[in-house]
Parts: sequence; structure tokens; C-alpha cells
Amino acid sequence: MITLGKRALLGAGLATLAAPAWAQGNYPTRPITMVIPFAAGGPTDTVGRLIAQAMGANLGQTVVIENVGGAGGTLGAQRVAQARPDGYTILLHHIGMATIPTLYRRLAYDPINGFETIGLVTEVPMTLIARRDFPASNLAELVQVVRRDREKLNYANAGVGAASHLCGLLLQKAVDAPMTTVPYRGTAPAMNDLLAGTVDLMCDQTTNTTEQIRAGTVKVFAVTTPEPIAALPNVPTAAQGGLPGFEVSVWHGLYAPKGTPRPIIDRLNQALLAALQDPNVARRMADLGTAPVAAARATPEVHRQFWQADIAKWRPLIQAAGQYAD
Ligand code: MLT
Repeated sequence: MITLGKRALLGAGLATLAAPAWAQGNYPTRPITMVIPFAAGGPTDTVGRLIAQAMGANLGQTVVIENVGGAGGTLGAQRVAQARPDGYTILLHHIGMATIPTLYRRLAYDPINGFETIGLVTEVPMTLIARRDFPASNLAELVQVVRRDREKLNYANAGVGAASHLCGLLLQKAVDAPMTTVPYRGTAPAMNDLLAGTVDLMCDQTTNTTEQIRAGTVKVFAVTTPEPIAALPNVPTAAQGGLPGFEVSVWHGLYAPKGTPRPIIDRLNQALLAALQDPNVARRMADLGTAPVAAARATPEVHRQFWQADIAKWRPLIQAAGQYAD
């Protein structure tokens, strides 16, 4: 005979048994996978590994990096959009999340509504670099060579939708001359070919180029920021080199599959904020020409608004270029 009191207790106990771990405040209870949609060793991978380590320390669980390159970062994004919304698969992606919705008209996932935003991470300047023996010694001379040689020049990027692709669009628009594009699964493998001299030019993030520039293994012509950057004080801005308006910084954000419960998003955001306030993360980012964003910019809501605004910002430029992925 079960009295009301015992039935109520039994009901509560069964309800607790049925409630998922996160609803009982037990999240995470196992390692989390952070998908990086480009090859290992590149700029996105560098940012991902930096915050993954610090987030893992805060969460008390390992954040494991999974590189899923290809198709300009859309294969990695698709992997996360289609993952279980349980907090154990997240995505670190960048400005490509703002260009992909316009560039790709047939995707196996929803590039906008397929994700919950966790928060913004950092904004990374880009640098225009060339193989060490490229026949130009400044941006003005590079522009002349590009206008003369056009499609004979090979421009490396990480596929349509990558930041290196967007920067190439901006460069070709500024110079008013097309080049031949050579796509890679990330700018880490692209850098290998630039160092080998088998491709001519690339526009890539300082998180992948700063050390090569300092070592003199590539030629650098400009940074794509309005002002010079402390990590590369002798590198002029594109405007200073004669290409005003050739500006782009690559923001990076953190996402989870649509439908991930809000308490999990909040816990992941808490770990992200801890990573952004980690002095070791800030020090390493500064050495690579970037910095963690302020906490006020790293909330799920602020990032969704920022992301939506950037989709609208880049759409007309991409439509005017008429270079779609499919
Ligand atoms: C890109 O957008 O060019 C990617 O960030 C390159 C990379 O991370 O490998």
C-alpha cells in the first residue's frame, strides 16, 4: 500500500531518474568535442586549441578538437548542425558563418537557424603575403604585378566561404584584376605550398602568418586593419600601401546545434568567458596579433545580433562579385 506521501516521493524520484543529467546540474559529465572546420595547424585551429584548453579547465572535462575541413568550412559546420543538441558537440567558426548563407545556395544544413550561439571569441587581422621571391617589394608594386599577370598568378585560400576567400574577393575588387584561385582544406596546407613557392599569394590571419613573417620565410605587404598592429609594427596597413577600403578582420564565434538546452549554453558561455579572461590565452593571442573580445561582446544574444548583422553586411558584396559556391 503506497501512501500519498510515499507516492509523491516515488514520483519525484522517478522524475529525477527521468530528468537528463544537465537538468540536475550535472553537465558536462564526459569530454566535449569542439569541431574546427579547417585543417589542423591553421589560424582557426590555433584559436580553437587556445580556448579549448582553457574552457576544459573551467568545465572539468577535456575539450577535444576535431578538424573537419573542406568546402570552405561548410563540412565542419554541417557536422555540428546535425549533431545531437546535448552540449557535447560544439563548433568554433569564423566570419565564414556570415558569408556562407549567401555563397552557398544548396547546403545539407540550415546555415543560420541550425545553430545556437554561445558567444564571440576574438577578431583576428589578416595579412597579405607572398612567396619569398615574389617580384614586388611593396603593395604598390604588387598591385602592378597582379594587374599585369592576372590569372597567371595563383592565389591560395581555404575554399569558398573561408576568410582567405573573402579577403581574396576584396583584394581582386580593390586591384580590379582576377587571379587563379587554388583551394585547400585550410591555410596551414596552403602555407606549405607558399613556403615551397608553388603558389604566389595568400591573404591569411595573423594567427597563422605572424611567425612566418617574423622569420622572413614569406613576403608581407599589408595588414587589413585600419591601423597597424602591435604584433607586426613594421607592416603597413592596406590603406597606407595605396589600397584604401581593403579592410577585413576575421571574427571567431562559438556555436552549438539548434535546440541545445539553455542551461547548457549558459554553462558553455561561462567556460568561454573564463577562457577569455585567462591571462595565458590573452598573452598568446597578443603574440599572434589578436586579443580576446570583451565579456560584454561574448554573450549568446550579442553574438547572434552581431552575426546576423554581418550576414547582411557581406551579402551585397558577394552578390555583386557573383562568385557563388554552387
Ligand atoms: C580561412 O578562413 O581561411 C581559414 O581560417 C583557414 C584556416 O583556418 O585554415
